[in-house]
Amino acid sequence: MSVTVRVPAKVNVQLAVGAARADGFHDLANVFLAVGLYDEVTVTPADGLRVTCEGPDAALVPLDRTNLAARAAIALAERYGRTPDVHLHIAKDIPVAGGMAGGSADGAGALLACDALWGTGASRDELLEICAELGSDVPFSLVGGAALGTGRGEKLTALETGGAFHWVFAMADRGLSTPAVFREFDRLTADRDVPEPVACEALLDALAAGDPDALAATVSNDLQPAALSLFPELSGTLAAGRAAGALATLVSGSGPTTAFLVRDAGSAREVAEALRASGTCLAVRTAAGPVPGATLV
Ligand code: C5P
Repeated sequence: MSVTVRVPAKVNVQLAVGAARADGFHDLANVFLAVGLYDEVTVTPADGLRVTCEGPDAALVPLDRTNLAARAAIALAERYGRTPDVHLHIAKDIPVAGGMAGGSADGAGALLACDALWGTGASRDELLEICAELGSDVPFSLVGGAALGTGRGEKLTALETGGAFHWVFAMADRGLSTPAVFREFDRLTADRDVPEPVACEALLDALAAGDPDALAATVSNDLQPAALSLFPELSGTLAAGRAAGALATLVSGSGPTTAFLVRDAGSAREVAEALRASGTCLAVRTAAGPVPGATLV
């Protein structure tokens, strides 16, 4: 018997970052949107804990106990007094170290899959608590849709959306480490006061209205200068998407995936084609959101 869970990627339409806290994390106002690019996690009973992965980026995925899927299985097993004797197989379509919460998706997916396999009867709140221990973005991978994340991003408030938003994503030829990007943010902001992060009301209104032009006018990512500083070639990708007619261009989360907001599925195909032809990125995908979070299939 095995259980499979499908989990979406995310893009941050707003990522407001505060000053570093005493624990090293940063307070955020993080507006997440789940988009239709998915990893699938399949869990099967086994003699011990084992992780395997398939997909174009599979070679980049750690298969030991540092993998968030493994950590999720261990955390749930510990809580319910059992051993995590499962084979976790990840069918990976979300870019690795790309700023789209691919690792977090696998953590949330493994948690939901193990929970169903073992019939723990854990409540949604218990699962969310374990997610928050695993990583700042993992709770959002479980719930999906659109949400405002505060604290280090793990305290979620669901947001209303008035329709689907269409995106093009350009994948880079290497990853960026999230801690390294936050450190670069600290370095770039060392000589000034960093304001408290707050959600942008106009952006929340644009999401609620389902209005891509209004959303394009309000998207922002405070980590973008840090990501560009560590990965300057991304400016070329952003410029190519802008020239192709994207309504808004931004680095996704801590990068290096770049995200292009477009009006509809037709313009997504056009902008995707132009980005492929530009030679400024490794691969290009289109996806729309919001979509539901981790779901049993
Ligand atoms: O929570 P998560 O393990 O995904 O975070 C990875 C790293 O990103 C942290 O170790 C920290 O360096 C940085 N981070 C941060 N502030 C946040 C979230 C993450 O500084 N709110």
